[in-house]
Amino acid sequence: TLWLWGKSLIATSLIVVVSLFVVVVNYSEKPYFLLQPVFGQTFSNHWMFSKQPYKAFKPHLGYVSIPKQEPLKLHCELCSIVSSSGQMLGQAAGLQIDRSPCIWRMNNAPTRGFEHDVGWRTTLRVVSHTSVPLLLQKPQYFFGQGNDTVYVVWGPLRNMRKDGKGIVYNMLRQAVENYPHARIYVTTEDRMNYCDMVFKKETGKDRIQSGSYLSTGWFTLILAMDMCKEIHIYGMINDTYCKTEGYRKVPYHYYEAGSRDECAEYMLHESAPYGGHRFITEKSVFAKWAKTHAIKFFNPPWQLS
Ligand SMILES: *[C@@H]1O[C@H](CO)[C@@H](O)[C@H](O)[C@H]1NC(C)=O
Ligand SMILES: *[C@@H]1O[C@H](CO)[C@@H](O)[C@H](O)[C@H]1NC(C)=O
Repeated sequence: TLWLWGKSLIATSLIVVVSLFVVVVNYSEKPYFLLQPVFGQTFSNHWMFSKQPYKAFKPHLGYVSIPKQEPLKLHCELCSIVSSSGQMLGQAAGLQIDRSPCIWRMNNAPTRGFEHDVGWRTTLRVVSHTSVPLLLQKPQYFFGQGNDTVYVVWGPLRNMRKDGKGIVYNMLRQAVENYPHARIYVTTEDRMNYCDMVFKKETGKDRIQSGSYLSTGWFTLILAMDMCKEIHIYGMINDTYCKTEGYRKVPYHYYEAGSRDECAEYMLHESAPYGGHRFITEKSVFAKWAKTHAIKFFNPPWQLS
């Protein structure tokens, strides 16, 4: 029994030490934040990653800056992706989200007024070409000096072409001219095709022939799997959620109170013969990816076998 007692004492001490360590790491300011700007401001990240040697991040050729066309170069130990879903409301996940080194949001989803539920910080935003005009309504807020959020914009070539005929690309160029500190990247044509190809490979359906559009969530997850060692996703429902008895009815976007219910919107899109997002199909693909990548889903949680 003495031997057993000794063993449990060691186990208990170990648990205490580990918990203390976790608490210290979680509560230290800006823990292992590692979101690297491209060649420009090479602020030292040695202090942030003292225990690990400096990692040279491979530039990602699928995303290039405006206007210099430099590849996106970032890496993060843990990215928390905050969905724009009404599921975010009333979960009080803000503090937990803000403890991640990197916090990703989509489109123009606001933090102001929703901090308690969605967090305060934003390190990166993945933005649809259709949402760019919404950002440009508040250019100082999104792109003003002192804002080091990285913007990654996706869109079809017709809007994103760089020859002067891409209407969204032109808007972004203008924004960078007005706000030279803004860090805006666009998804290259090759990368857009790659994202389509992944959809076809995973679902067997041709995205264009099936008359659908990929969602910003799709582009976000593909980017995150290349950039983040670990991914925590908040507020995303799974592919069977809307068929579950007594599911929680929430607005489609947390910042659009009174808009159509999320599941109603999903059903509409899933069955739209043309121009819809296949949100539900995408979710079943995400569940598959979560088996081979370090992806966890919170609020609601997903049970992944
Ligand atoms: C920068 O913009 C983000 C939105 O992407 C916003 O949440 C944040 O408050 C802004 N930061 C500053 C310092 O203005
Ligand atoms: C999907 O969500 C529903 C509702 O939250 C839940 O009952 C079900 O267990 C979830 N399935 C998986 C595979 O996570």
